[in-house]
Amino acid sequence: MCGIVGYIGSKEKKSVIIGGLKELEYRGYDSAGMAIMSGECCSDIHYFKAVGKLENLSNKMSDFSSEGFGVAIGHTRWATHGKPTEINAHPHLGEYSFVIHNGIIENYKELKDELESQGVKFISQTDTEVIVHLFERYNKTAKSPFEAYKQTIARLRGAYATLLITKAAYGEVFFAKNAAPLIVAKNGDEIYFSSSDASLIGLGKEAMYLEDGVIGHAKLGAIEIFDKNLKALQLSFTELPKDKGYAQKDGYRFFMEKEIYEQSQVISECLMGRVKDDNVNLEVSDDVFDGIDEVVLCACGTSYHAAITASYLFERIAKIRAKVEIASEFRYKEPLLKPNSLFIVISQSGETADTLEALKIAKEHGLKTMAICNVDNSSIVRLAGEVMLTRAGIEKGVASTKAFATQVICLWLLSLKLAKLRNVIDEKTMLNELKALRNIPSVVHFDPKLQERIYRLAKHYLHGHGFFFIGRDIFYPLALEGALKLKEISYLHAEGYPAGEMKHGPIALADDGLYTIALLPSTLLYEKTKSNVEELAARDANITAISPVAFELSDDFIQTNTYEHPMSEFFEMMIVLQLFALEISIRLGNDVDMPRNLAKSVTVE
Ligand code: M6R
Repeated sequence: MCGIVGYIGSKEKKSVIIGGLKELEYRGYDSAGMAIMSGECCSDIHYFKAVGKLENLSNKMSDFSSEGFGVAIGHTRWATHGKPTEINAHPHLGEYSFVIHNGIIENYKELKDELESQGVKFISQTDTEVIVHLFERYNKTAKSPFEAYKQTIARLRGAYATLLITKAAYGEVFFAKNAAPLIVAKNGDEIYFSSSDASLIGLGKEAMYLEDGVIGHAKLGAIEIFDKNLKALQLSFTELPKDKGYAQKDGYRFFMEKEIYEQSQVISECLMGRVKDDNVNLEVSDDVFDGIDEVVLCACGTSYHAAITASYLFERIAKIRAKVEIASEFRYKEPLLKPNSLFIVISQSGETADTLEALKIAKEHGLKTMAICNVDNSSIVRLAGEVMLTRAGIEKGVASTKAFATQVICLWLLSLKLAKLRNVIDEKTMLNELKALRNIPSVVHFDPKLQERIYRLAKHYLHGHGFFFIGRDIFYPLALEGALKLKEISYLHAEGYPAGEMKHGPIALADDGLYTIALLPSTLLYEKTKSNVEELAARDANITAISPVAFELSDDFIQTNTYEHPMSEFFEMMIVLQLFALEISIRLGNDVDMPRNLAKSVTVE
């Protein structure tokens, strides 16, 4: 999704902006641009735009330097309105002002018609361009440029994080935020803006995460912020982490690969302090579970797969009804919500627009809410009643891996907590669950020989007409996740299915060009799943069995370890599926960390 960076100070602005945008690259984008106001005189605003990678923007600016004091705004765009062209790339310009924006202006058509009827000429197809023209129109009569900016923002409906610079206010940045993330940071007199703290680390010392509805302006050493009623707000900054190194690749070829290897460590961190004295000890208040007779789990993508996995755990372990909602469907379905439901949203980024909106709806209905999230201070974390952070660290690969693993751990912990509170778990079972939980960091600490084996097998899968990933029970959402990983980074068609569903239709596709990746754990429904796989083998489908038990009908076999607990098998198979997608994608020469058309943080609905 789009990224925003801004700077006020005397550093080389081109480098600050490119460096900041680089940190946001993993979110996905198709064009980039920046505007720089510098030099002695306010008439100097230079702007540059390029389609494709940031490198193209950098190359275009190779002869440009911006030493000395100035302000700069930069943007990576993920197209929503209008094609990914240079004209549609941000910043958008009026006669003397420049704007960048993340989000969607829902009433842009109406505003555009109004401005066009007054003779304003638009050059892009974007919704964003209305902001700069509205501003310049109001600036003709307003008392000050900032007053004109306030009038502009008051006209916008929808989601926006936006920065505007104008020759009418030399050295200043105007900013506003609603339903899209925006952070302002400072280091002495220098001021930085960004849509994520990833690009502020090492630059700003402290940051303020802006709330929805705020508007403000900043110049060297001075920031003023107002709430949606235009009441001045007290500035409240928190310290930013100092270490940029933690987000680098550490010798791995791709962030995704590094993140797969990190899972043992982040799961240990996720468990830290949460399993104590043979009990689950969570930071969420026990009150949140009072009177609850249903859990509703809501999320998108990989987080949705964690939700489905959790629905099995909640029902089996905590004996409570668990319903799963896909967040992108939830918003408009006029959901019937019961007051005794606990509404749990799951999100890596904490900014997914669909999930955030679902959370708002649940809150409006007066439900108790909880977020399982990886990003502290994100919009979802700030809105949810209770929060469990997944502690996976920054996840840069667009294809989620360690975030998924830690989400499942958090949800497993929650189901145990709830089982205890509901008095439906005996001591022996609890001890057994905790033993298995504590062992997961070793389960996902895999021998690199496994990756070597999968690398060798990967060459078998570069052709054919598709993949079925199949499994039963908790291995069904894992199959969904395996298929999503492969789709995302290899661009091969893959579907996840409950193994028992194959004969209800999908088996019609079985032939020697179809690959079936069968999850055959020994601890859960082994015989049942095996029969489903045999039905496919009988129709000449290519079978890859992932199992601790040798499967004579398989074309390829990936042997996993023998465990006593199904969740141990779940996590080992998760690693196999992640490596499987990774190695196929690498062989196909794809951009593993930034797959085409995808964005890390989906902040539009
Ligand atoms: O940040 P979130 O967990 O809310 O994101 C939800 C999905 O967009 C995300 O899981 C997406 O499916 C990933 N690309 C999966 O690898």
